[in-house]
Amino acid sequence: MSSKDFPEFLDEFDDDDQQSNLTQTDRRLRRSSMQAKRPASKANDFFRNQDDSRSNIQFTYKAARFEEWWLLDSLGDFYEHNWISDVMSRIKGGKEASVYLCQSDAVDGTRLTAAKVYRPRSLRNLKNDGQYRNGRADLDESGRVILDDRALRAMQKRTAFGDELRHQSWIAYEYQTLQSLYAVGADVPKPFAMAKNAILMDYLGNRQNPAPTLNTVSLDVDEAKMIFDRVLHNIDLMLAQDRIHGDLSAYNILYWEGNIALIDFPQVVLLRSNPAAWAIFQRDIARICQYFISQGIEHNARNLAADLWTSYGHKIRTDVHPRDLDADKAEDRFLWEKQKGSH
Ligand SMILES: Nc1ncnc2c1ncn2[C@@H]1O[C@H](COP(=O)(O)OP(=O)(O)O)[C@@H](O)[C@H]1O
Ligand SMILES: [Mg+2]
Repeated sequence: MSSKDFPEFLDEFDDDDQQSNLTQTDRRLRRSSMQAKRPASKANDFFRNQDDSRSNIQFTYKAARFEEWWLLDSLGDFYEHNWISDVMSRIKGGKEASVYLCQSDAVDGTRLTAAKVYRPRSLRNLKNDGQYRNGRADLDESGRVILDDRALRAMQKRTAFGDELRHQSWIAYEYQTLQSLYAVGADVPKPFAMAKNAILMDYLGNRQNPAPTLNTVSLDVDEAKMIFDRVLHNIDLMLAQDRIHGDLSAYNILYWEGNIALIDFPQVVLLRSNPAAWAIFQRDIARICQYFISQGIEHNARNLAADLWTSYGHKIRTDVHPRDLDADKAEDRFLWEKQKGSH
């Protein structure tokens, strides 16, 4: 398979995986319809050409062939550097990433870790990723700002190479944010390592059950109040670092034995350089308030957002530039209409 075909192959993989139908993939590919033949032979060529130095790695988690290849490619580095010794199960196959429960024998004080493996198409799926990337220098796989002209041009032109770099930068921001928040004592999983396509972090939950996301948890009012304050404390820590989560809601907060962990940071917004920061921040706070209102904690989201924002000396920008809005999103269209109405 030529490198030109590679993204197409990954798309095939992603489509199959998306349907959570991996165990049937091989069978389907073998079917003799013309449509199925092409990817099947491409896939076979692909596997034949793979370096088989990792083919002896056996994980407890039994993935079908495509997923297995993707796992070995994404987690092989962690395995070879002893960050993980086994992959036990898939915790969640999400929209942008799948998260796996791993056994880690050589990581200090931790036996269970979570490996977040990004989907091949995760970045291309994000139609409005520009909104978040705005004001963010792109990072390479070691977390350093990309300065190379050729790389910058490729990203601008959206070539396959450029998209790969953008994908990497997306992951690097998640890792870097976990690191810097963990360092100041925020409630985030401890990050251990980053590879080309994956992040390894502390796992929340026990062997049988991963921690649920907060949106599925019912709290009594006293605990709801405590957890709400804890969430605000974490938002405060982020603001102190000039960062906004960007996709904060009860869906991206894990709850385990009375503690919480904020997760899912690739879209993190740098508030000083992103003109849409205030609008994104308001949305984060509104979504958080929505959950806590359902748990009996009433708050005016707009006032709360404004108080937090101005307490860091930031000015409230009432207008968001149209280029930072996504016409496909109801809340962005609403904001646009509101802005037009206020002139
Ligand atoms: N450190 C972790 N420990 C336990 N479960 C986790 C951890 N990180 C992620 N998960 C699980 O994986 C899911 C997807 O992770 P997330 O980072 O939110 O990615 P996505 O972009 O797919 O939403 C989460 O909703 C949660 O159920
Ligand atoms: Mg998520």
